[in-house]
Amino acid sequence: MGIVFDSHRTRSRGAGRYLEGAETTESPPVAYCFVSRQLPGPALGRLAERHDVEIWPSRLPPSHEELTEQVEPAEGLLSMLTDRVDAELIAAAPRLRAISNYAVGHDNIDLEAAAARDIPVGNTPGVLTDATADLAFALLMAAARKLPEADAAVREGDWKTWEPERYLGADVHGATLGIIGFGRIGQAVAERAQGFGMTILHTTRSSTAEDLDDVLRQCDFVSLHVPLTPATHQLIDAHALAQMKSSAIVINTARGELVDQKALTRALQDKLIAGAALDVTVPEPLPADDPLLTAPNLIVTPHIGSATQTARERMADLAVDNLLAALDGRPMPHQVRP
Ligand code: DGY
Repeated sequence: MGIVFDSHRTRSRGAGRYLEGAETTESPPVAYCFVSRQLPGPALGRLAERHDVEIWPSRLPPSHEELTEQVEPAEGLLSMLTDRVDAELIAAAPRLRAISNYAVGHDNIDLEAAAARDIPVGNTPGVLTDATADLAFALLMAAARKLPEADAAVREGDWKTWEPERYLGADVHGATLGIIGFGRIGQAVAERAQGFGMTILHTTRSSTAEDLDDVLRQCDFVSLHVPLTPATHQLIDAHALAQMKSSAIVINTARGELVDQKALTRALQDKLIAGAALDVTVPEPLPADDPLLTAPNLIVTPHIGSATQTARERMADLAVDNLLAALDGRPMPHQVRP
């Protein structure tokens, strides 16, 4: 049909921008879909060619109450990792028959509650692997070579001259990297580390707590790449931090809940480890007065692992493919199961 996003009739409904889908005699029925944030690229136009699409208009996510209200009449939901799609929300949406999460992670969705209603849940694996691995490596390099501190010194007029003993960081080449979780992203980080001549140690799904301790004890850098599950919640706690070398640097681009932030704050303050670089925290964003932000040698970025134009557009494509498939009664190309 070649309908582009802006050629749809736009009318006011609920809080968002509303795009009416075009129904033809051959096509399956038009469904009402709620999309909880505007997405980059053309993918939402493809959804709007087939269905009625309402997009939450704000930069900030809907509150849980607002999301529940928006999803109540919906058959399709395209959710973000900032949306808590819990049993209560699913129960409030009697017509809901597809949930497509704009993320590879799906810890924000109650998969059991969705499965109990036979609602398929989709995610966006693969397309953000390289972007996230690139960011993990960027954080590793920035923390190792003290880039934020050096940049700040230049801007603040504190860089007086070349100094033999200032901004001394850690060698990355030849260092040992521990990759906790050796799935797609963990392996992509390993590929980058090979280029730096690093020794790579990693855990797997079948690793025991002792295996983890063993890896932690040997590493100069520890990068986290496990999904958030009850088993990985606060995997990096005071005990884990105590296993690490005092020169170790922790990088987290996965989920904030993997790290006990109070224990990390203490470990940085007491110089039990040398640094941390976090793209993910609990909560997101961290309040400006969060004690973690007072810890030395800490870099925090605002959950930008997948934030490249290409990765985010490809995530939108997969999320729309998942939603279109399920609304047509076909299997989602990327369905997650409890
Ligand atoms: C994901 O897809 O789970 C990422 O955290 C988004 O950047």
